[in-house]
Amino acid sequence: MEQIIAKDLYFTYDKQTPALKGVNFTVQKGEYVAIIGHNGSGKSTLARLLNGLLTPTLGTITVDGIVVGDKKTLFEVRKRVGVVFQNPDNQMVASIVEDEVAFGPENLGVPRKEIKERIDFALSAVGMQDFKRATPSRLSGGQKQRIAIAGVLALKPDVLVLDEATAMLDPQGRKEVLSTVQKLNKEQGVTVVAITHYMEEVTKADRVIVLSDGEMVFTGTPKEIFLKQKELKNLGLEVPLAVYIAQKLKEQGVEIDGDVLTQSDLAEALCKL
Ligand SMILES: Nc1ncnc2c1ncn2[C@@H]1O[C@H](COP(=O)(O)OP(=O)(O)O)[C@@H](O)[C@H]1O
Ligand SMILES: [Mg+2]
Repeated sequence: MEQIIAKDLYFTYDKQTPALKGVNFTVQKGEYVAIIGHNGSGKSTLARLLNGLLTPTLGTITVDGIVVGDKKTLFEVRKRVGVVFQNPDNQMVASIVEDEVAFGPENLGVPRKEIKERIDFALSAVGMQDFKRATPSRLSGGQKQRIAIAGVLALKPDVLVLDEATAMLDPQGRKEVLSTVQKLNKEQGVTVVAITHYMEEVTKADRVIVLSDGEMVFTGTPKEIFLKQKELKNLGLEVPLAVYIAQKLKEQGVEIDGDVLTQSDLAEALCKL
């Protein structure tokens, strides 16, 4: 089922050059879509349009058939689409983790008793159930970001949008957040739209959308996208190191077996030689 439909999306800040120039895409329910593109290509603008923080200048986005970016539907959209941004510190409002997670549902008018259940559900989903009474400011970057995700999950969204949500984290924090998101997608069927510049994260996606100067230039599976090494390079994007090494080896006549997307694929392929 098509859950998100973006049609001919334009967005212009302050009447300057458009940040998005006629973007069209759909996202299926339960799909994991990665969005990549150089700085200023329009990724964050798209994230803000997806939950109605911004309204399209032209074109439409619908989520489950509901038009996004209209004041009348804002509440319904916020219930369905949760966005996690780059810096967890800017997203924290409370001094205790459980209050932080409760903040969103309270604003949506969820009854007190249900909020309690949602806090437990959301904190266990991100593996932070033991931190209910903790002070957010004392947590590590990865833990804070997992709390930010829990805050969004407490809204029980059908769609989770991550705008470079792992960019400020160390490799451990990035791993924690990434595996949390993958679990939510696989086990709870949450649709994921993950904006990232870490190519390793892209390998986990069902599909990739490549933006450049406000336009969608490619879309395909990670494998299809990584075959476009030259084109990506021209856009200032790199393929994952494992993919690069595998392609180089193939060019040299080394018989690499199967598709190599990740380091472990590469290790496996090399062991078979
Ligand atoms: N608040 C803003 N006001 C004016 N221009 C902006 C604003 N935010 C982004 N832009 C411009 O819109 C374009 C797309 O930016 P953005 O969506 O943030 O790209 P990305 O997230 O891919 O780096 C850029 O040219 C950027 O300078
Ligand atoms: Mg951005």
